[in-house]
Amino acid sequence: MIVEEQELDFQQLLDFSLDAIFVIKENEIIYANKSALDLLGGNSQQEILNEKFQKYLHPDYYFVCKERLKKVRERLHIAELLEQRIIRKDGEIIDVEVMATPYKFKGEILAQVIIRDITLRKKAEKRLYDAEKLSAIGEIAAGVAHEIKNPLTAITGFLQLLKSEIEHPYLDIISNELDNALSTLTNLLQVAKPDLDNEPSITFNLCLELERLLFLFQDQFYRVEIEKRLSDKEQKIMGKKNLLLKAFFNLLKNAFEAIEDKGKIILEHYFKDGFIHIKISDTGVGIPEDKIKKLGTPFFSTKSEGTGMGLTQVFHTIHTHGGTIDIQSEVGKGTDFLIKIPLL
Ligand SMILES: Nc1ncnc2c1ncn2[C@@H]1O[C@H](COP(=O)(O)OP(=O)(O)OP(=O)(O)O)[C@@H](O)[C@H]1O
Ligand SMILES: [Mg+2]
Repeated sequence: MIVEEQELDFQQLLDFSLDAIFVIKENEIIYANKSALDLLGGNSQQEILNEKFQKYLHPDYYFVCKERLKKVRERLHIAELLEQRIIRKDGEIIDVEVMATPYKFKGEILAQVIIRDITLRKKAEKRLYDAEKLSAIGEIAAGVAHEIKNPLTAITGFLQLLKSEIEHPYLDIISNELDNALSTLTNLLQVAKPDLDNEPSITFNLCLELERLLFLFQDQFYRVEIEKRLSDKEQKIMGKKNLLLKAFFNLLKNAFEAIEDKGKIILEHYFKDGFIHIKISDTGVGIPEDKIKKLGTPFFSTKSEGTGMGLTQVFHTIHTHGGTIDIQSEVGKGTDFLIKIPLL
């Protein structure tokens, strides 16, 4: 069916367009559609009309925007798509894409500005970038690990022979340290070389397994209180069981280690919107904001005995299962890790 032009309700098309549309006169907003209102986080049109457009611009883009709008109005120039940031009414900074075009209205040249929220796309790009960075580092690390592992394995073998011939207290220490080094390398190889973990995916009850995992830490229950908030306990998921259990073991281990003296860990499990949600919250030391970005990078550790491979394994495993990881933390208060895994 072809709709005649005069039949179309242009006002409705504009008002409910999925892109945010503004009309700017001088520097004032004189029209904003519904998406524009949602983008800025306003409650009513009246709230943002007659306001200065600059009020919502991120300071880094203030001058660029001013110049672009000037060109649009004075030279009837179309301002091409530009990525920038704006500040919403509640102070949240979001990534957007902006373009502007001249708009003739009652003999005046105004600017029509179209803005699209690209926060989600940016987040997805960053995840991809991080994953690529990780896989590049991982490949180098895996190569090195492989080279070191072979001679270490040979040394372990000869040490066993030596132990059967002579007795010396140092031999056990050497043997223990070698075991530690080898297990670190095995961990590294497991996360850095995904093709090595060709464990088949199976259907299993993650909630039940999580409860079992907790018991591995029972020697710490005297100082760390455990609260279980487990819903949808019968829900099954499909995945690489051992890899996933190792990931949750690493998260729980970190939570216990973050609590220096006494504290509490909450383990939450529920099913919502097609995803299994698992939240591990601790009342531990917390993570400073600048460090949160580094989590998951191989060898990043603030612990004297840590290898910094725990979260690398967690990120790798959750991402290969199509899941996401959200981290909220406050120094001195504690940390929440929220893992979402799709049911597939
Ligand atoms: N729940 C948490 N609370 C506070 N800091 C955390 C938490 N989880 C991780 N971290 C920080 O992230 C760093 C990296 O964690 P990751 O598990 O990768 O390595 P690690 O725990 O140091 O060593 P490993 O896991 O090999 O024993 C930790 O050293 C710690 O600083
Ligand atoms: Mg750890």
